[in-house]
Amino acid sequence: MSSLKKIVVVSRDTEIQCLAQQYGREVFGADNLTDALDIVKTADPDLILFDHRFNPNHFREFFDKADKYLDDVPIVAIGDEDSDNELSDEFKKMGAYDYLQGRRDYGKLEQIINVIKNHLCASDYQAGHKTECLTSGSEVNTNRFFAGNLAASVSIVGKSCAVINTLKMTKIVAESRCNPILIIGETGTGKELVARAIHTLRHPNEPFVAVNCAALTANLLESELFGHVKGSFTGADREKTGLLELASTGTLLLDEISEMPIDLQAKLLRVLQEKTFRKVGGIRNIECKATIVASSNRNLNNEVLANRFRRDLYYRLNVSPITLAPLRSPERKEDIRLLAEYFLKTSTICPEKRDKVKSLTQMAIEALEKHDWPGNVRELSNVIERAILLETTDKIGLSGIIIDPTECSWVSGSPTTNLITGFSLAKAERELISRALQETGWQKTRAAALLGITRATLYAKVKQYQIEKDSCVEKNLTDAKTRQKDFSISSMPRPVAIR
Ligand SMILES: Nc1ncnc2c1ncn2[C@@H]1O[C@H](COP(=O)(O)OP(=O)(O)OP(=O)(O)O)[C@@H](O)[C@H]1O
Ligand SMILES: [Mg+2]
Repeated sequence: MSSLKKIVVVSRDTEIQCLAQQYGREVFGADNLTDALDIVKTADPDLILFDHRFNPNHFREFFDKADKYLDDVPIVAIGDEDSDNELSDEFKKMGAYDYLQGRRDYGKLEQIINVIKNHLCASDYQAGHKTECLTSGSEVNTNRFFAGNLAASVSIVGKSCAVINTLKMTKIVAESRCNPILIIGETGTGKELVARAIHTLRHPNEPFVAVNCAALTANLLESELFGHVKGSFTGADREKTGLLELASTGTLLLDEISEMPIDLQAKLLRVLQEKTFRKVGGIRNIECKATIVASSNRNLNNEVLANRFRRDLYYRLNVSPITLAPLRSPERKEDIRLLAEYFLKTSTICPEKRDKVKSLTQMAIEALEKHDWPGNVRELSNVIERAILLETTDKIGLSGIIIDPTECSWVSGSPTTNLITGFSLAKAERELISRALQETGWQKTRAAALLGITRATLYAKVKQYQIEKDSCVEKNLTDAKTRQKDFSISSMPRPVAIR
């Protein structure tokens, strides 16, 4: 369970105090607003839990006075099971970060705490690295997409602890004399991006060359890597310089190293140990000065156990591996929005729409956050580009988020047709509209904005599907358990046009 250093509880209720005890290493209680303010001034809390029984106006009064002592510290209002959406909206309007409707929402607190922790982690990182990070001299300045100057200089988007740890490790490894360097991560997680970051940090003005070990036959790969002398094999009618030599004092990226034929693995190991090599058919030793970076989307340990990868080479590579977390891992959830907005801002797929499609609706972001991302960041980038191409308004709504069905079936291993089993477009549309209405407390303008449709369209759809306020709430209660599944993006029929 996640925890924070200090939580202030403004409540007389022991249940709320106990809740805070579960998540805070130090919990400060106040049963009136004057005491609460005094505590806030001195305790420097990470989170404040505020009992709704003090009512929204008291909250406002407290918020106004406490705000100057709080550096963006979230205040979460705690209501009870009977509190309605209006009260929740009122607290949020007054500045509450969120409103928990009693026990049934207590689980949300864990998510809120994770967000706070990641935020604290990012701020620590920025504070600690501002002066020592690279000042790239380029036009790329640190902005809201990056965790610090280093991240900006190598274009690595993300503020989660997972990304920050990767950046820290990349910096440590690049500034050491570590060679070879191993980068492990699923497809599309940014292995090449990190390899280029290492190169930029270590020797930016030297050559960067890359070879995909899965793309060539054993013989071709060998002569690609080492080069060959004229006449060394049929067809070798000219001398060839290999990539190891071309990389010179720069970087050679061996992509998909797990696919390298086993004989060639032995030859590579020799290069790593002796720092010299010979061209195919050659007799002269050539010095290897390059930084060798190997990347793999397979677990190399498993490959060793299956006798597909040499154990000695694995140990030689695995000194300080850099591991990239998949986008679906819970600690990277906050990166999804950031990456989506970054790709929206920087995509060149449709220059005429560059400044026209400006943002994503909340529903679209939620849908992105729920997807599994088997293709990781590359897949997310593709989804955003597809959405930009199709978008006709200034905002990408849920209907613009079209996941490639083949990518979904790849991860689940199930046939594509399974995706739409038990679903009709109408059912999905009705449920989405109901949910948007419920989440906005039936404020139709907000609901329409969430869905990325006009109010008029929303009215027409509400009428068409006969969605009623009470039936909607009732339905949502009975559906609560299945909602997660029903609204997961991979279970939606594609495309879902709700305009
Ligand atoms: N954190 C990130 N910030 C910005 N862009 C990213 C990030 N991670 C990945 N990308 C982008 O996603 C795409 C895929 O990244 P990259 O090619 O480095 O992945 P990979 O792990 O090498 O994939 P593969 O295993 O398929 O070769 C690239 O366009 C890259 O720029
Ligand atoms: Mg790659």
